[in-house]
Amino acid sequence: MGQLGSGKTCLVKGIAEGQGVKDRKEVTSPSFVLVKQYMGRIPIYHFDAYRMKSPDEMYDIDCVEFFWSNGISIVEWADKVMECLPDEFIKIAIRTINQTSRDIRVSYKGEKYKNFMKEFKVKIECLK
Ligand SMILES: Nc1ncnc2c1ncn2[C@@H]1O[C@H](COP(=O)(O)OP(=O)(O)O)[C@@H](O)[C@H]1O
Ligand SMILES: [Mg+2]
Repeated sequence: MGQLGSGKTCLVKGIAEGQGVKDRKEVTSPSFVLVKQYMGRIPIYHFDAYRMKSPDEMYDIDCVEFFWSNGISIVEWADKVMECLPDEFIKIAIRTINQTSRDIRVSYKGEKYKNFMKEFKVKIECLK
């Protein structure tokens, strides 16, 4: 989540690169196609709900099947389609502070990501 230009797609590029996608230029906002797929070590499904008028449009592209598959699903503008999201997810909220700074908050919903987030926190602390 985060306003236009806050860096959501840029973050997806980084995640894709981390997953072994060779060309980060392949990763662009799927505003018109609604969902794009990149092949890393596991598939990445990249959604953009910016132009969606209702969660029905997510259901129309079979989002549930993507969410349950063995890949990483990332949804830009997820706040517009909250209803169709799985019960458990990681939320990344990006807020623009100025041209070169962002406030990034990572939280989770559901037990599934509890340990993941503990490890994530440790890794972030190590980077400081
Ligand atoms: N961390 C970053 N470092 C450098 N440029 C960035 C960064 N994040 C975003 N940008 C630039 O800002 C613009 C908008 O970023 P984008 O990721 O498309 O935003 P969003 O998807 O949130 O609308 C792009 O031109 C991108 O290159
Ligand atoms: Mg974008």
